[in-house]
Amino acid sequence: MTVPRHIAIIMDGNGRWARERGLPRIKGHEQGAESVRAVTEACVELGVEFLTVYAFSTENWKRPADEVAALFVLLEHFIAQELPVLMKNNVRLAAIGRIHELPESCQRALADAIAQTAANTATTLILALNYSGRTEIIDAVRALCADAAAGTLGEIDADTLSARLYTAAYPDPDLLIRTSGEMRLSNFLLWQLSYTEIHVTEKLWPDFGKADLRAAIAEFNKRQRRYGGL
Ligand code: IPE
Ligand code: IPE
Ligand code: MG
Repeated sequence: MTVPRHIAIIMDGNGRWARERGLPRIKGHEQGAESVRAVTEACVELGVEFLTVYAFSTENWKRPADEVAALFVLLEHFIAQELPVLMKNNVRLAAIGRIHELPESCQRALADAIAQTAANTATTLILALNYSGRTEIIDAVRALCADAAAGTLGEIDADTLSARLYTAAYPDPDLLIRTSGEMRLSNFLLWQLSYTEIHVTEKLWPDFGKADLRAAIAEFNKRQRRYGGL
């Protein structure tokens, strides 16, 4: 079996999971955090090098202020609680997105956990926070324009642009998983997903576990990747 080097996940359906149980939406997010832990562990066990999870999009600021605030409280809590687990499992934490626009205390917790796990060598867990594919491309274009103004910009090709994305240090995802049955990208990794295999499951994110990850990888193994060739 081929294990994907990089798996990206659009973790969707937390709100529906909570609604089905008559619970507040935040309970769905809390349970979703448990799925992040389980799936990260599975990636370590299977030898997946990179796991990118879409945790908060630039569009998610449109949600009611109390849900947004609760999500950032949960994020800080998650980081504090998971840090010893990440260390034990040799997981390196990273983040992509406009991190500087997050609440200060979140930024501090994140920076601290990233620094503490920097030398870990198993899976790299990349949190996409205040992320969207379009803002990422805009930020990359701005960086290229700054290089041009400084007179240091040479040829522009796919590699030049990739090198300016938040994901410059990571390979493109091999497998994209979206939970809750929605058939859209919702502004996730628009550049990087060009040739990624897509797996959509009806399962809601809080119900997604290690067995579901293994099933997605098994299905991935039946795909024939052609990259436009024969
Ligand atoms: C995904 O679950 C988590 C975030 C976007 C933060 P949702 O909150 O989108 O759950 P649904 O789609 O409303 O069920
Ligand atoms: C995508 O889910 C964003 C995250 C999982 C963080 P959304 O629930 O925000 O996406 P839409 O609104 O259904 O497209
Ligand atoms: Mg959703």
